[in-house]
Amino acid sequence: KSESTLSMTVVGASGDLAKKKIFPALFALFYEDCLPEHFIVFGYARSKMTDEELRNMISKTLTCRIDKRENCGDKMEEFLQRCFYHSGQYGSEENFSELDKRLKEKEGGRIPKRLFYLSIPPNIFVDVVRCASRCASSADGWTRVIVEKPFGRDTESSAELTRCLKQYLTEDQIFRIDHYLGKELVENLSVLRFSNLVFEPLWSRNYIRNVQLIFSEDFGIEGRGGYFDHYGIIRDIMQNHLLQILALFAMEPPVSLDAEDIRNEKVKVLRSMRPLKIDDIVVGQYKGHSKGGKFYPAYIDDPTVPKDSITPTFAAAALFIDNARWDGVPFLMKAGKALHTTRAEIRVQFRHVPGNLYKRNFGTDLDKATNELVIRVQPNEAIYLKINNKVPGLGMRLDRSDLNLLYKARYPREIPDAYERLLLDAIEGERRLFIRSDELDAAWGIFTPLLKELEEKKISPELYPYGSRGPVGAHYLAAKHNVRWGDLS
Ligand code: BG6
Repeated sequence: KSESTLSMTVVGASGDLAKKKIFPALFALFYEDCLPEHFIVFGYARSKMTDEELRNMISKTLTCRIDKRENCGDKMEEFLQRCFYHSGQYGSEENFSELDKRLKEKEGGRIPKRLFYLSIPPNIFVDVVRCASRCASSADGWTRVIVEKPFGRDTESSAELTRCLKQYLTEDQIFRIDHYLGKELVENLSVLRFSNLVFEPLWSRNYIRNVQLIFSEDFGIEGRGGYFDHYGIIRDIMQNHLLQILALFAMEPPVSLDAEDIRNEKVKVLRSMRPLKIDDIVVGQYKGHSKGGKFYPAYIDDPTVPKDSITPTFAAAALFIDNARWDGVPFLMKAGKALHTTRAEIRVQFRHVPGNLYKRNFGTDLDKATNELVIRVQPNEAIYLKINNKVPGLGMRLDRSDLNLLYKARYPREIPDAYERLLLDAIEGERRLFIRSDELDAAWGIFTPLLKELEEKKISPELYPYGSRGPVGAHYLAAKHNVRWGDLS
């Protein structure tokens, strides 16, 4: 019998993230028997609500998605019985002391292991952390806090946030989430590279011509302008999600799979990257567009966005890593809202085959003959390698075909949501997929000078129609570095 009670307090329990991601992920873990015997959930927020009302609210977003086992309904009921609610102000030590009392009641005298998930705006992170650490932390077990971006808006504000959090918590207690690190194909990057002989030897400037990190969504901002307009796509997606993928992709082999060894390598590669310059970036913003009889409104038409906003909803950037492995290889990033499709992928374009015997089969365009490795993070997860192959028959026609690992076909079981992986890791104290403060600082170092320049010079974004492939400028940027976007060819 276990001697401890694990509690998860979701601060900001009635918010969107909590409802859509956190509670469902906790239920999935519970359903899969990944949580300890003594496990409870507390919702904490300002609104008044009873335990029963919280349960009702949560139950609407829980699904039995895993594999429709018959006892799912029972499991759900069992899970809900472990959920409680406490109403309080975010900066009130008194309210957190009351929470502490209720936690103690439910912990039944066992050693408390307390996890707090801050699903709240960043301007109240520090208040909550102060109250939780002073009044509701565990005396003889552990206390951990999960925070999610935005971690500041630039190097200085991020460092200030770190400094404030560290008044109350040690670095070991802070779990900074980047939910892209919990995605199956991002986690698999290291397996792909380091456990396959055929990839790692090619993983350098000797064979790789360019790498592309692409994120697109086919919907606009839809009421999230209050947050988004203050940050923009570069801070929302590039500085964190895409840069994290890049760091895992490009880092040197770590000494071991230990969290500190991996994070040391990520910091090193991030610190080898040149800070972005204004010539290395194209910014865009979507404008209204009619399609199929429906009108899709512009970014600035969203009621939560100021009419004169020049916040980018699209950006393309060329980044470089100044080290021996990657010298001169462009890493192109592209991220945008309200584009023609929803997708996240990594594209690796290899060099031309020297003295290609089949050159004439490709006409004048040898780019068409290069190998390309595509790692599709979502949707429809896949890894495929474009190779040249002879079309069967008497002639000699070549064809580019795919060696295709389609996850749906190979692994029929549904892939867990990124939050399931990350919450489980935080519970188990596994820090590999969380961002260390020096990593965060290095990541901001790459983007901060550029973000300041964009804002000081009030650079106007290039407008692109809602549902299109984004601004033409992105092609020019790629062409300048002798690259073609793989997702458009
Ligand atoms: C979030 C961004 O971090 O990631 C959102 O703030 C974005 O703007 C979201 O929509 C995308 O996440 P996912 O997992 O749906 O690809």
